[in-house]
Amino acid sequence: MSKDIVQIFDTTLRDGEQVPGCKLNTTQKLIIAERLDELGVDIIEAGFPISSPGDFKSVEEISKIVKNATVCGLTRSVKKDIEVAAQALKYAKKPRIHTGIGTSDSHIKFKFNATREQILDRAVGAVTYAKSFVEDVEFYAEDAGRTDNEYLARVCEAVIKAGATVLNIPDTTGYCLPEEYGAKMKYLKENVKGIDKAILSCHCHNDLGLATANSIAGVIQGARQIECTINGIGERAGNTALEEVVMILKQHPTLNLDTGINTQLLYDTSQMVIDNMGIYVQPNKAIVGANAFAHSSGIHQDGMIKNRETYEIIDPKEVGVTDSAIVLTARSGRAALAFRAKKIGYDLTKIQLDEIYALFLNFADKKKEIDNDDIHEIIRTSTINYSIPA
Ligand code: KIV
Ligand code: ZN
Repeated sequence: MSKDIVQIFDTTLRDGEQVPGCKLNTTQKLIIAERLDELGVDIIEAGFPISSPGDFKSVEEISKIVKNATVCGLTRSVKKDIEVAAQALKYAKKPRIHTGIGTSDSHIKFKFNATREQILDRAVGAVTYAKSFVEDVEFYAEDAGRTDNEYLARVCEAVIKAGATVLNIPDTTGYCLPEEYGAKMKYLKENVKGIDKAILSCHCHNDLGLATANSIAGVIQGARQIECTINGIGERAGNTALEEVVMILKQHPTLNLDTGINTQLLYDTSQMVIDNMGIYVQPNKAIVGANAFAHSSGIHQDGMIKNRETYEIIDPKEVGVTDSAIVLTARSGRAALAFRAKKIGYDLTKIQLDEIYALFLNFADKKKEIDNDDIHEIIRTSTINYSIPA
């Protein structure tokens, strides 16, 4: 059975760029947009055109250079926003306007001082107006995660009737549990008339560390688009990490879902975003962190040397990392030391290894990580008469 494709909507340049301190200039945005296109994302959310002249220019320039992906601009449910977004997207081969409004009772009361009916009318008005400029209109129901399902379904039904092609169901505050977010998608699938005319989209924030799990729960229940960012950057605790959801779908064939992403570009793209934004990822970050394919305990290293699959579920080459790393520390065993020594030219006998290992442990207790120069030094100071490899 052929797999269903989940569209990847990258919002690194919009929701990702909202992070304090990681403002990008237009040239940097163009470099990243070009790479995202090469990576195979389906949609690039290039910015929020009305927010500043710089953002308008970036969306306009990105629209000119992107070859394959749809280019998307964000708006509020405000006429002027929609006009400006349409203007910024005019050179895009495949333009999309992403418009919407808050639908939770908290947003309706405190942000808009309005009623549910008024918000519903504004949503329909915005989609109808956006539709007069472009065919592809995505509607977001901000704070959908905390919106009453029955009302959310009414809003979705009304905006589909007005022509929305994609329905974004954001868990704006990162509040939902995976079961809850999945159940919301299921409810919409089962209760919104005309739902087959639109794609449901997951847009999850990571305030409780659940953005990836929630997005996966959403696609299991029928959503077919995930909104995400490289390295999971974004407002507060960030957005769903693109590299995580892509690799989850790839590594779990029983889900019968896949994406069009060229996974071998994931690591390099992550580095490119780090370099341009200056926002580092933690070493233990899944898929792209410095330690994602590094093994330091003796038990794990022994297993890895016998067969990589004992401790790795992803071949690092699949995500563009050259190789797994066996890191030598005071927790490493003989197998790892012999393995590294052999790599740099010493084929040690069991007796030689015993002596070197004792010296190595003394050395490693003083130093966090043992490198090749340290091994040369340890062997030179041992009783073993082993010439240093050229
Ligand atoms: O998190 C959110 O609700 C958003 C919308 C503006 C799409 O980013
Ligand atoms: Zn968001």
